Amino acid sequence: MRKKIVAGNWKMNTTIAEGKLLLDSVISQMPALASNHQVIFCVPFTQLFVANEIVNQSSKHNIFLGAQNCHDKAAGAFTGEISIPMLTEVGVHSVIIGHSERRQYFGESNTFLKAKVDALIAANKQILFCCGEPLQVREANTQNEYVTAQLKESLFHLSPETFMQHIVIAYEPIWAIGTGVTASTEQAQEMHASIRHLLAETYSAEMANEITILYGGSCNGSNAKELFSCADVDGGLIGGAALKAELFLPIIQALA
Ligand code: 13P
Repeated sequence: MRKKIVAGNWKMNTTIAEGKLLLDSVISQMPALASNHQVIFCVPFTQLFVANEIVNQSSKHNIFLGAQNCHDKAAGAFTGEISIPMLTEVGVHSVIIGHSERRQYFGESNTFLKAKVDALIAANKQILFCCGEPLQVREANTQNEYVTAQLKESLFHLSPETFMQHIVIAYEPIWAIGTGVTASTEQAQEMHASIRHLLAETYSAEMANEITILYGGSCNGSNAKELFSCADVDGGLIGGAALKAELFLPIIQALA
């Protein structure tokens, strides 16, 4: 059965003390998750160690720790970067790759992302692979071509088995991130269906049906239920609304 996921991307927010309070508060209040549901907390690097202890101590199932980035090399002279073995040591299960902020502000190319994908697969991680178009592309109505190229260049070298085992796609239109402008359910469903169609063409209909495709971009407690009820939307990657327990909990509840 296809996995359904709500992942919080805390980005560069919260201190260790703030993060601990947030995590404790969400985990203690969240409902028990169905066996095919996951909640993932993608916290800043400095909090992974403490967050791992909190997640491990919880009796709740299917809660995982995520990182927001990694380097493709296991070690070396890459000042300021973090390696996959370092993330493994602190219990990281999933890693966000190709977030638009990494692509936009740090110049990460599809080729660089492909190398990260391969390194994460070798380390048996779940990958939250982000794609999504800027406003000019949406206005020119070429968003499907844009997203197709992102997926093709970083992911389509994978075998269907490897893809199914490791890849979760997160569609995050850049014009909806942090803007308060959410994609309409029609826009989200249309893109998610188009991604699934592309997977069916490239691999097979059976494989496409197994892939989890998340929506991200101003998703909140008021619109999550409607977005998640779309046939091809399997949950969300949440930014701002993941930073307060009272905002994040209703989004987790919308999974059910
Ligand atoms: P917002 O939910 O703040 O729009 O951010 C979405 C996002 O970028 C998650 O990765």
